[in-house]
Amino acid sequence: MSVKEKQEKLVKTMKTWQQLENKAVEQTAKIMGEAKHPLIRLVMEIIQRDSNMHHRVQQMIIDATENAFVEISPDDLVGVWDSIENHIKIEKKTIELAQNSLDALEGTSKTMIQQYLTTYLLTDEEKHDRMLADLELIKRGMFKSS
Ligand SMILES: [Fe+2]
Ligand SMILES: [Fe+2]
Repeated sequence: MSVKEKQEKLVKTMKTWQQLENKAVEQTAKIMGEAKHPLIRLVMEIIQRDSNMHHRVQQMIIDATENAFVEISPDDLVGVWDSIENHIKIEKKTIELAQNSLDALEGTSKTMIQQYLTTYLLTDEEKHDRMLADLELIKRGMFKSS
């Protein structure tokens, strides 16, 4: 496949994906209307917000593919790096707190909601940490997608 064909395939795939995210937003709204339990409603709200964000992320992937001006270089990160470094510390601390919370929940009964949501939070905080670690790789000119 030529570079141009690969770019077209990527953009087409992202646009298909965006349509699915739109469906996901609709579907979560429908479930929120049907569900009485606050946990189910919360989960649907989380997924709905994530789907909206995914749509925006997919748009930036499309824009970066179609317009060369959306580029990032280590220089873009140097100016804000002190602040990002501080933020990395916050994320690491939140992971610790999530783990402490799970420890506190271990062996307890009737804590399924707490365990379920704290596990979600841990995964999400780990995700934030990983995103920032990847930014650091970009800053050092060492990022490679896995
Ligand atoms: Fe998604
Ligand atoms: Fe976080």
